[in-house]
Amino acid sequence: MTKLTKTPIDAITSEMKELFDKHLGPGRFARTAYRVREQASFEKPLGMNVFDNNKLVGTVSLTELLIDAEHLVYLLGPLLIDECHRSKGLGLELINDAIELAKTKDAAAVLLVGDIAYYEKAGFKQIKNGQIKLPGPVDPARLLMFEISENAINKITGVAKAN
Ligand SMILES: CC(C)(COP(=O)(O)OP(=O)(O)OC[C@H]1O[C@@H](n2cnc3c(N)ncnc32)[C@H](O)[C@@H]1OP(=O)(O)O)[C@@H](O)C(=O)NCCC(=O)NCCS
Repeated sequence: MTKLTKTPIDAITSEMKELFDKHLGPGRFARTAYRVREQASFEKPLGMNVFDNNKLVGTVSLTELLIDAEHLVYLLGPLLIDECHRSKGLGLELINDAIELAKTKDAAAVLLVGDIAYYEKAGFKQIKNGQIKLPGPVDPARLLMFEISENAINKITGVAKAN
């Protein structure tokens, strides 16, 4: 019988890296979102894993960023659900878990690079072109924000750096 359990992330494990390799491949290393995460300290990783009878089947991570050296936000990703567990709402559940984790850290917003068609279901919105600068190119249509503090989408602007 399937028994799913969720556990907060306290380390980037080899099992997580295997899931990243399987679904994102080596191309992930060239992505801007990966570069941001590379700059971050992994001493205290934040996120959630989902296990099916002790096998990792889903994961979401958050990276702490400061925008314009002032606004605390978290970059969400990677978000991955293994094929056999997709379309059961698990992806959206992990996004919501990540948002709740960011709230516990008093973040002003959660950012991510992804498809608006999916992430708008969790309340993410497209930000203005050029409003936030990441260390590399990003398709502006894919840079999305979930507002935690009031009017964050208009207030948070500037260069993003891992905190
Ligand atoms: C994207 C992903 C995390 C969704 O996980 P999930 O647990 O299946 O998500 P949910 O159950 O919450 O939602 C599934 C629905 O979202 C849709 N969906 C998935 N990816 C989508 C996308 N990029 N754009 C629009 N819709 C999308 C699915 O078709 C599905 O629709 P259905 O419910 O009508 O079948 C999972 O497909 C995955 O790990 N994909 C590979 C990694 C990836 O692409 N991550 C980044 C996404 S930008």
